[in-house]
Amino acid sequence: MRTAIGTAAAALTIAAAIAGAQAPSVSGGDGSGRELFVAYCASCHGTSGRGDGPAADVFRTRPADLTKLAAKTNGIFAADTVSRVVAGRGNRAHGSVEMPVWGEVFKRMPGLDDSAVKARIDAIVQYLRSIQERSS
Ligand code: HEC
Repeated sequence: MRTAIGTAAAALTIAAAIAGAQAPSVSGGDGSGRELFVAYCASCHGTSGRGDGPAADVFRTRPADLTKLAAKTNGIFAADTVSRVVAGRGNRAHGSVEMPVWGEVFKRMPGLDDSAVKARIDAIVQYLRSIQERSS
C-alpha cells in the first residue's frame, strides 16, 4: 500500500523533473551543476543535498544525504563511482528502484546527444564534489 503510493509519487516527481527540463532556465543545456541539481535532484535530496527534499518522505529508502558521499569513502570523493550511480545505477548488485536513472532520463530529452548527456552528468558530479562535508 505505502509502496504503491510511494511509487506513484516517485513517478510524478520524475514526470515533473522531465517537464522541468523544458523550462527556459535549464533548456539551454549549459546549466551549471547547481542549476541542474536544483532542477532534477532537490525534490528528493533537498536543496542542500542532505536528503530532505519535499518528496523524501514517500520513499522506503530515504534519498541519500549527498553531502556525505566522500565521508563514506574515506574522505575521498569518488567521482567515477558517483557518476556511474547518477547515470545508471553503477554496478550495484542491489538497492532500490526509487532513484531515477538519470543517464536514461537525459538521453530521452529532445536535443541532448550523448556528449550533452555526459556534460550534464559531469556538471552535476562536480557540484556534488563541491558540497561534500569536510571531515575534520
Ligand atoms: C525521485 C526522487 C529522487 C530524485 C529526483 C533523485 N534521487 Fe538520488 N536517490 C533517491 C533515493 C530514494 C536514493 C536512495 C536509494 C537508492 O540508492 O536507490 C538516492 C540515492 C542517490 C545516490 C546514492 C547515494 C549513496 O550514498 O550511494 C546518489 C549519488 C544520488 N541519489 C544522486 C542524485 C542526483 C545527482 C540526482 C539529480 C540528478 C538525484 N539523485 C535525483 C531518490 C532521488
